[in-house]
Amino acid sequence: MSATVKLEFEGKIYEFPVITGTEGEKAIDISRLRQDTGLITLDPGYANTGSCTSAITFMDGEKGILRYRGIPVEQLAEHSSFIETVYLLINGRLPTRRELKEVSVLFNDHSLVHEDMQIFYQNFPRGSHPMGILSSMANALRSFYPELQAIEEEINITVVRLLSKVRTMAAMSYKISRGHKVVYPRPDLKYCANFLNMMFDTPVNPYQIDETLVRALDAFWILHADHEQNCSTSTVRLVGSGRVNLYAAISAGIAALWGPLHGGANQAVIEMLIDIQKHGSDYQRAIKKAKDKNDPFRLMGFGHRVYKAYDPRARILKKMCDQVLETLKITDPLLEIAKELEEAALTDDYFIEKNLYPNVDFYSGIILRAMGIPTNMFTVMFAIGRLPGWIAQWKESMDDPEWKLCRPRQIYTGQEKTDYIALDER
Ligand code: CMC
Repeated sequence: MSATVKLEFEGKIYEFPVITGTEGEKAIDISRLRQDTGLITLDPGYANTGSCTSAITFMDGEKGILRYRGIPVEQLAEHSSFIETVYLLINGRLPTRRELKEVSVLFNDHSLVHEDMQIFYQNFPRGSHPMGILSSMANALRSFYPELQAIEEEINITVVRLLSKVRTMAAMSYKISRGHKVVYPRPDLKYCANFLNMMFDTPVNPYQIDETLVRALDAFWILHADHEQNCSTSTVRLVGSGRVNLYAAISAGIAALWGPLHGGANQAVIEMLIDIQKHGSDYQRAIKKAKDKNDPFRLMGFGHRVYKAYDPRARILKKMCDQVLETLKITDPLLEIAKELEEAALTDDYFIEKNLYPNVDFYSGIILRAMGIPTNMFTVMFAIGRLPGWIAQWKESMDDPEWKLCRPRQIYTGQEKTDYIALDER
C-alpha cells in the first residue's frame, strides 16, 4: 500500500498521498487539500513547496549532488560540450554524432539576428544594463519572427532561434555598448569559440581563439545549464503557464535572473572583491559586515536555498580558476582575496552554523574576467548558460497533462470591509 499522511483538523481526519521521486525524495500531494478541508498552505519563498514533478535535473543539497538527466555535472563539465549538454537537457538523452552535427548546422543557420534589431540596440541609453537590454530583445524576437501555424514546428524553430540568437544578441550588445562594429557569427567556429570571436574580434586586432578559454567557457555554460526549480526557472514555468509565447517566458526568466540574490550575484561578487581590495584586502571587514544583523550586506556568492554543503559547481569552478589563470599566465589578485575570504568564512562559527558555503557565483567571475568579459556582462553569461534549462523546463511543463495555470492563493491580512468616504469628507 502506498504511504499517506494524515491531517487532523476540526475533529476530522484527512489523508493525503505521499509521492516518492526516483532518488527517494518524498512529498505530500496536497492537490485536494482545499477541496477537502477548505485549507490552503502558507509557505513564504516556497521553501517547502514542490511546484512540479520533473525528470530533468536532480540535486541533493545536503550531499552537494547535481545531475542533468542522471549524469553528474562533474562528468559533463569534464567530457561534454555545451551544445551536447543543451541537447541532453532538452531531449532527455545524449545526441549521436549525427544528431550533434545536425544541431550545430541548425545553430549556425539561425545565428544571425535581424538587422533591424540593431536599431533597437543603438537607442538604449548608454550605461543601460545588458540584462535589461537582453530581456527586452528576447521579448522583441516574437515581433521579428511571428508564430507558425504548425505547433511542433513552431516550438522547434523557436528553441533553435533562442539558443542561437541570444548568444549573438549578447555579443552584439557588448560591441554596440563599446561603439564598435558588430561582428557576425562565423560558420567555421563552434558555439563557444564563435561567441568569444563575436565579443572580441576587431578589424584592427583579429581575435586569436584560445582553446583554454573555449574549454573553460564550455564548462562554465555546462555548469549553469539547469538547476531545477530556481527563481528564474520557476518564473519561466509560471509565466509560460499562462500559455504566453516562449520568447516572452524566456524574457521573464532573464529579468528574474538579473537580481543580485540570484544570477546577478556573479557581478556582485566581483564588485565585493574589488571593494575588499580597495580596503587593503581586509576580508575580515566583509565577514564582520555579513554577520552584522543591522547591516543588509551579505557575503555575495555564499549561501544557497538548496545546498547546505559545498555547491558542486563552485568546487569545479574554483579548480578551473587555478587552471585557466595558470595556463594563461595571468595573476588576478582577486583570486587570492576570494580564497582567503572563503577560508575565513568556512572557519567562522556564523557560516558554519548556517551551512553557508561558496555557491556557483563565487569563483565564476574570476574566470569570466580572465576571458575579458566585462563585469556588467557576467549575468548575461549566466543567462546564455541557463537558456537550455529554461527551455527544457518550459517544454516539460507544456507536455505535462497535469500542468495548470500557476495561480497561488494568499492569506489576506488587510482591512476588513470598509465603506468608501467621499473626497470632501476625508
Ligand atoms: N551572507 C551572510 N549571511 C547569509 C548569507 C550570506 N551570503 N546567506 C544567508 N545568510 C544568513 C541569513 O542572514 C539567514 O540568517 P538568519 O537565519 O539569522 O536570519 C540565514 O543565513 C538563512 O538565509 P536565508 O536568506 O533565509 O536563506 P535563503 O535560502 O532564503 O537564501 C540566498 C539563499 C542565496 C538568497 C542567500 O544565501 C544569499 O543572499 N546569498 C548571497 C547572494 C548569492 O550569492 N546568491 C547566488 C545564489 S547561487 C546562484 C543561483 O542559483 O541563483
